[in-house]
Amino acid sequence: MSNVVAMKLELPSTPVQELVKSNTGKQIPDRYVFNPKTNTSESSNFDDNDDAVVPWMESPVIDFQQLLLDSQHEMHKLRSVLTSWGCFQLINHGTVSSKIDQLRQVSKEFFALPLEQKQKYSRTVDWFEGYGNDTVSEGQPFNWNDRLHLKIYPVDQRNVKLWPEIPSKFRETLDAYAVEVRKLLENMLKVIAKSLNLEEESFYNQFGEEEGIMFSRFNYYPPCPSPDQVFGLKPHSDVTLITILLQDTEVHGLQVLKDDQWFKVPIVPDAFFINVGDQLEIMSNGILKSVVHKVVIDKQRERMSVAVASSPPPDKEIGPVSELIDEERPQLYKNVKNYLATFLQYIARSERAIDAMKI
Ligand code: OGA
Ligand code: NI
Repeated sequence: MSNVVAMKLELPSTPVQELVKSNTGKQIPDRYVFNPKTNTSESSNFDDNDDAVVPWMESPVIDFQQLLLDSQHEMHKLRSVLTSWGCFQLINHGTVSSKIDQLRQVSKEFFALPLEQKQKYSRTVDWFEGYGNDTVSEGQPFNWNDRLHLKIYPVDQRNVKLWPEIPSKFRETLDAYAVEVRKLLENMLKVIAKSLNLEEESFYNQFGEEEGIMFSRFNYYPPCPSPDQVFGLKPHSDVTLITILLQDTEVHGLQVLKDDQWFKVPIVPDAFFINVGDQLEIMSNGILKSVVHKVVIDKQRERMSVAVASSPPPDKEIGPVSELIDEERPQLYKNVKNYLATFLQYIARSERAIDAMKI
């Protein structure tokens, strides 16, 4: 493993959206073109990037209200999808539903603003919050993706200067959405623990309860004239315990990897797509697997999504819960603090930090 600390990070000079606007020749700049010969990372099979040949995921749909009612049938279903796919569609998710349309609307309006307006909220190369693109280390291709990344919890850690003032409803809309999605996260972490026959606090407690961190990531994927040459997002897993994703209403593009095979994630109206991330894999001692996924780009249509991620505070040590460790299944992952910092260094090289956590 090369030295993660000494690596040099880069950002592309222009948002992809601007590139597409000015690109009359339809030539894709090299820095976005994925070259299978130079990328050796696991699960980055470039041949599979042709969306047309990829099968659809048989999307397991879970009913949130049934989980809250402790329906044994729904709990079994949850356990089964979590241990097979590690991701599912969540319907009937309660009060958060009323906030979704507005969130999509402000997201759309934000990305439609002139560049100078958006650049008031630009990220720096040192920290990922703000508007811009993901960093990569030298030689790695960039994602065909512009994004706005904002911490939403704890409230006193919000970097409010990076919260757009235009559209004028952006801040109040995200604030209202955040309240609801936080409740949903808490409930989901508790029911996931229960579905594994654990104390309901097992994961929520490691998340840090009131101190737990949540990030929102507004994704914008412009169309690309040669979609098979680029990735919206390269294959990756999320740093999170779980990610709560609001997909585009019309344009699909998300794919998940299961048993070395890619599957397209369908759009289920009014559903959240929820996936297990690295930190829940660690806490569950590998019983739940952090799902590798990627985003492919549409030739003609833009795509948007909003992902909400969760992570314990940096000083909190996490590790496999003791009930999931026994003689047959020893502790498979190290205890770790500030996994987020480690993750950011690995992801810039398109590598998986979780592999370094295995004992
Ligand atoms: C992410 C992600 C998927 C999507 O933001 O980490 O995987 O559909 N997003 O935009
Ligand atoms: Ni992701």
